[in-house]
Amino acid sequence: MGGGVVGAADETADQMRTLFETNVFGLVRVTHAFLPLLQRSAAPVVVNLSSGLGSLAAVTAPGLPTFGYPGIAYPASKTAVNMITVQYAKALPNMRVNAVEPGYTKTDLNANTGIQTVEEGAEIIVRMAQIGPDGQTGGYLSAHGPIPW
Ligand SMILES: NC(=O)c1ccc[n+]([C@@H]2O[C@H](COP(=O)([O-])OP(=O)(O)OC[C@H]3O[C@@H](n4cnc5c(N)ncnc54)[C@H](OP(=O)(O)O)[C@@H]3O)[C@@H](O)[C@H]2O)c1
Repeated sequence: MGGGVVGAADETADQMRTLFETNVFGLVRVTHAFLPLLQRSAAPVVVNLSSGLGSLAAVTAPGLPTFGYPGIAYPASKTAVNMITVQYAKALPNMRVNAVEPGYTKTDLNANTGIQTVEEGAEIIVRMAQIGPDGQTGGYLSAHGPIPW
């Protein structure tokens, strides 16, 4: 959920709560519900949909497109996704739990203003969903590699 782009000064706690319900609490609800099933898998994998906007490094780097994003709720929700990912990864060492940034993709989220196709955006998601039991866990990745937190 993107929630529309509202500038930081205009954003309310109620708007932020609505967005966190989907992007953060929804993620925890789904993960918690699926854990018993995942525990029965020989190669349990969780891929959390983060965003480059969840990177504190990226939104504080002048010159990067992420620096200019004006709102609070969406990037904060994705930073929370990143934290939840690393905490699950440590708590569940038999699972591979990673956060991915699909890239700026043409979808309803951005009124199809993204610069890549859904197929291109899905590539890193599918790749990380297919990693084996010895694959990376606790990572934050795009198609180009690890992203600074
Ligand atoms: N597009 C990008 O450029 C981009 C970049 C970085 C990260 N992401 C992330 O990638 C993920 C997918 O985004 P997208 O671009 O595919 O967005 P999208 O086209 O807007 O799709 C969002 C999906 O989430 C579902 N959804 C929304 N609220 C929900 C709720 N409360 N409960 C259950 N399902 C709900 C929607 O279901 P309905 O269709 O039924 O409403 C829809 O299937 C998101 O986590 C987004 O933050 C996207």
